[in-house]
Amino acid sequence: MIGKPQETAGCFLKMLQWLHGKDRLKMAIRNIREMGEEVLYKKCREVTEMTPRIKELIEDMLETMYEANGVGLAAPQVGILKRIVVIDVTGEDPHILINPRVVETSGEQTGNEGCLSVPGKCGVVTRPNYVKAVALDVNMKEFEIEATELLARAICHEVDHLEGHLYVERVIGPLKDVEYEDED
Ligand code: NI
Repeated sequence: MIGKPQETAGCFLKMLQWLHGKDRLKMAIRNIREMGEEVLYKKCREVTEMTPRIKELIEDMLETMYEANGVGLAAPQVGILKRIVVIDVTGEDPHILINPRVVETSGEQTGNEGCLSVPGKCGVVTRPNYVKAVALDVNMKEFEIEATELLARAICHEVDHLEGHLYVERVIGPLKDVEYEDED
């Protein structure tokens, strides 16, 4: 998902320390795949164990998301067919969801949505206003996350990616060009 530009340096460093302690590994911004590329339309596989490679993937996904001013990124968007998503709708609250499942929804919200894989575009999508999901954390421990509004929307959007679906399939009316506000 695309969101407003955000101040991310502080929380990103915190997240790195959490993932790796003092051993800061090399990170990389990965290439974001765009609409039309086959990898975005495939169902992703469950993660069965945490490995150094997957930790590196998660770090790279966070860095790639922040660098692109996104609020969420799913592994297939960087070409990896694994059930992993990262989400941060405020720039201060990163979530890593491994094998996420939406277990409860309620209400409705209708609003603009964008996607880093569909650059420069947005469209109106209706989503639940409340979502409860179950996922694994980086230690492969199950946790529950409850979300409303933008976070609920982001969870639905990212879980769709893991099933090979893009928000453009759900758009009401036409896809529009995003108008970027001037930064001061
Ligand atoms: Ni997306």
